[in-house]
Amino acid sequence: MTDAIPTAADLTLEEKASLTSGADFWTTKSVERAGVPSIMMTDGPHGLRKQTEAADHLGLTGSTPATCFPPAVGLGSSFDPELVERVGEAIAVEAAIENVAVVLGPGINIKRSPLCGRNFEYFSEDPVVSGVLGAAMVRGLQSRGVGASLKHFAANNQEHDRMRVSADIDPRPLREIYLRGFERVVEDAQPWTVMCSYNRINGVFASEDPWLLTSVLRDEWGFEGLVVSDWGAVNDRVAGLPAGLDLEMPSSGGLTDAQLVAAVRDGALDESTLDTAADRVLDLVRKVRRRPVVQGPLDVDAHHALAREAAGRSIVLLKNAGALLPLARDAKIAVIGEFARTPRYQGAGSSLINPTRLDTALDELRALSTGEVVFAPGFTLETETGEDPDAATARRDEAVAAASAADVAVVFLGLPATDESEGFDRGSIDLPADQLALLDAVLAANARTVVVLSNGGVVALPFADRVPAIVEGWLLGQAGGGATADVLYGVVNPSGKLTETIPLRLEDNPSYGNFPGEFGHVRYGEGLLVGYRWYDAKDLEVAFPFGHGLSYTTFAYGDASAVVTADGDIEVAVAVTNTGPVAGREIVQVYTSLPVSSVQRPPRELKAFASVALDAGETREVVVTVRRKDLAYWDIRTGGWVVEGGAYSFDVGASSRDVRATTTLEIDGDPIRMPLTLDSSVGEVLAHPVVGPFVRQAMESMVGGGQLDEGLVKMMESFPLGRLARFPGVGVTSEMVEGLIAMGNAS
Ligand code: BGC
Repeated sequence: MTDAIPTAADLTLEEKASLTSGADFWTTKSVERAGVPSIMMTDGPHGLRKQTEAADHLGLTGSTPATCFPPAVGLGSSFDPELVERVGEAIAVEAAIENVAVVLGPGINIKRSPLCGRNFEYFSEDPVVSGVLGAAMVRGLQSRGVGASLKHFAANNQEHDRMRVSADIDPRPLREIYLRGFERVVEDAQPWTVMCSYNRINGVFASEDPWLLTSVLRDEWGFEGLVVSDWGAVNDRVAGLPAGLDLEMPSSGGLTDAQLVAAVRDGALDESTLDTAADRVLDLVRKVRRRPVVQGPLDVDAHHALAREAAGRSIVLLKNAGALLPLARDAKIAVIGEFARTPRYQGAGSSLINPTRLDTALDELRALSTGEVVFAPGFTLETETGEDPDAATARRDEAVAAASAADVAVVFLGLPATDESEGFDRGSIDLPADQLALLDAVLAANARTVVVLSNGGVVALPFADRVPAIVEGWLLGQAGGGATADVLYGVVNPSGKLTETIPLRLEDNPSYGNFPGEFGHVRYGEGLLVGYRWYDAKDLEVAFPFGHGLSYTTFAYGDASAVVTADGDIEVAVAVTNTGPVAGREIVQVYTSLPVSSVQRPPRELKAFASVALDAGETREVVVTVRRKDLAYWDIRTGGWVVEGGAYSFDVGASSRDVRATTTLEIDGDPIRMPLTLDSSVGEVLAHPVVGPFVRQAMESMVGGGQLDEGLVKMMESFPLGRLARFPGVGVTSEMVEGLIAMGNAS
């Protein structure tokens, strides 16, 4: 392949404009005269969805068969960037065989509310997890010459009113929670494209926000690729282009191209701005051209095997009282629940994949069992209107009979597919009532009951105290059935951990009351306290905390130590030992806190993690790097990141609420000194390194050289300097104040 793609300078005004919007649903326009081919972008994110005939972005019509890997809700629970990268690479191979240039993913929006209809497509409620895993997915895709599209930039944390709603967010949470993951992916992995979201942020559409798409994304973070609109996100293309939106998707039928041409002609739009956008499209075409041709056919077996491995690593063992799991191979088991036969393995909408094959848990359990496996559906997935009530009773009786005759009952519960989709949010986090009633009946018949869950967003687990074993199976992709059997029989030792808190009640969630907003606005009133940050700050009981997940083995942690490296990052070291009988994998988590701080901080924040495989009895020194940058808060006074100096606590844990070792390290702060002004408070002046001691001395001499009344000082702390000078009886003149300010600012 040649690299002879022209630049914008070689093209006419009309050709340039035409390049910056789609030809149809999935492809860019070609410019045949100049040798510019069209390229294809398709979803994403957990497999390839290439539509061959009728196209629609909500996944309503079919697509070419492709491997359906676990959606992000599952894959994220692996906490393993190496695994995520391998999955990304496999998706890229499938894309390259199908001649797809860009895969529309990963999606890394923060799970602000468990109700968000698309939570299954996102990794976490935590920005470090989202950023690390998002970067891994981008690396994997791009290692095979397929572009990633990091989405949905930004603050697209709900589906309700998603094409108009304004996410109203204060600067600190916006930077520290909602943008931090995007920043990391851009800086670490340079995605070829970033997809701007549908919504507004603080009143401005993402698709026409120069602050978001240019100042932050390019000027601050150094993004070098192309910004594409989410499908239909363009509100005003002539405003969007100079803001930094390069490519509108899908096609506007030429309408908005003509608007750009007219805007250049009448001087409303600078032609060089159009050149920049067209050049970015041409750059993307060039990158795609450079990719070596990948010949099919797809190795379906190998990718299915990877999907099974990934699904096994996605499963979270929430509870295992009395070591009920793993099951003995020769145990007589009753498999109950329609999901065992009809798996729920992905969410609905634009990410819907047509899988190359589909495992069911029931078949796979039968394949591994040497005992008897009896199946009873227990409930139906169709909403049976007018169904004979006897039919439901018969289903329940059949399940109860199977459970009472078995050594163990394995009950598959979950959310119906219609509950979770792109385009709308859930109304509750409850499992269907008929399933909960079935579980109660089964439990009464056999206390040795295991619950296996299939759900893309978290569900309430009102039975958690009564059921001895709970397996969170999320949505596991096409090989999830096999992976579930692997975990239940101990072929795979579960190692996934929760990337989101499972609350006791929806009402406990921090966004409750604000979500999903009204009249076009959603207020992020919980500020920084998203997910576990909130539950910890409020000391709320939860069903299962962020970072939680059990294993069939046990791990012991030694003491932790931390050092600052030459480049300012912090290396936290801890010895971890597998103290149980089988090999396993532990996810070691490092949280930080700064107990004495000048800004609001959550009690504990995840800053780094590692997934470590250990043989039975093996000890390994695990070293995890916390980036200095990740200690920073967003300072609204300077509009920049600041690492505050102080004694930081580094908590090493098996979950956010299971801290096993702690060490403290003094970290030097970034130099930050705000200029003194008439508006500076007495407190700020007293804290000033040069002026502070001088003022304190002056105050002491005013009271006769004696001890200052600290109560009085405290009361005066908020007094602005300028007003002090006007206050009767204080004895401070304007000249004195101005002298102080000058002295402070000169130092
Ligand atoms: C979704 C995107 C998707 C696009 C193309 C949109 O509705 O929000 O995530 O990539 O459609 O299907």
